[in-house]
Amino acid sequence: MSLKDKIAKDRVPGHVAVIMDGNGRWAKNHGQERVYGHMNGVNGVREALTGAAEIGVEYLTLYAFSTENWDRPMEEVSALMDLLVQTIVREIDALAEKEVRLKAIGDLDLLPQQCRKALEAAIKRTENNDRITLVLALSYSSRREIAKAVKAIARQAKAGKIDPETIDQNTIRDFLETRNIPDPELVIRTSGEKRISNFLLWQIAYSELYFTQTLWPDFKKEPFFEAVIAYQNRERRFGKISEQITA
Ligand code: IPE
Ligand code: IPE
Ligand code: MG
Repeated sequence: MSLKDKIAKDRVPGHVAVIMDGNGRWAKNHGQERVYGHMNGVNGVREALTGAAEIGVEYLTLYAFSTENWDRPMEEVSALMDLLVQTIVREIDALAEKEVRLKAIGDLDLLPQQCRKALEAAIKRTENNDRITLVLALSYSSRREIAKAVKAIARQAKAGKIDPETIDQNTIRDFLETRNIPDPELVIRTSGEKRISNFLLWQIAYSELYFTQTLWPDFKKEPFFEAVIAYQNRERRFGKISEQITA
């Protein structure tokens, strides 16, 4: 029985979010510069996306670059931006063919122009695809996203378009960049680090967290399926007690 066959088809998470970590350590293990790790990290993206599409995941969010990552050495940042453009340009036909819809969240204004253009073109080109939505978190910070939402809500309240008394969880949800995207059921982080690093803080309130030692460039479909199986073996109680869930 293959790993994939062990996945219960009726309980596949609708949205999986991944903190792709460990490219630098992978490169070091191979006696190479960090950028070599990022180049090989593209394989992980392909594998995770294919695996997710095969089992019927509807949304796959990949944390590709945080706002904090802008503070890395300039050479690494510019290599990452170049890699991003090259990858989008190279993979766009394959994405379109696989019926992948591309989206992006984050402060895209900070991206180099060339990068933004390639990204926007790919988003436009794939907007009507509906097999799976690939959400790239780029120049992303969850706290910034929440602060931006609060500012927008305050503006609307000031303009009399929102009654402050009606503001609730759904109001905040609808002002985040992830509006129209369901919360992830499963968050995967590779490379053995056990932290969230400013990723989807609001959206992961009740997500199952899965940590694996695998470094991102080594991440393949099998580790992805293993994470989904681990998720399916958890009991999601949402505050209730076990007996209420199994009844
Ligand atoms: C993740 O790998 C990729 C990005 C953050 C862009 P890292 O580059 O963080 O790899 P490590 O953590 O140094 O091994
Ligand atoms: C988190 O990885 C960001 C991405 C995966 C894009 P980092 O490697 O930057 O995280 P920290 O700083 O070690 O927490
Ligand atoms: Mg890291």
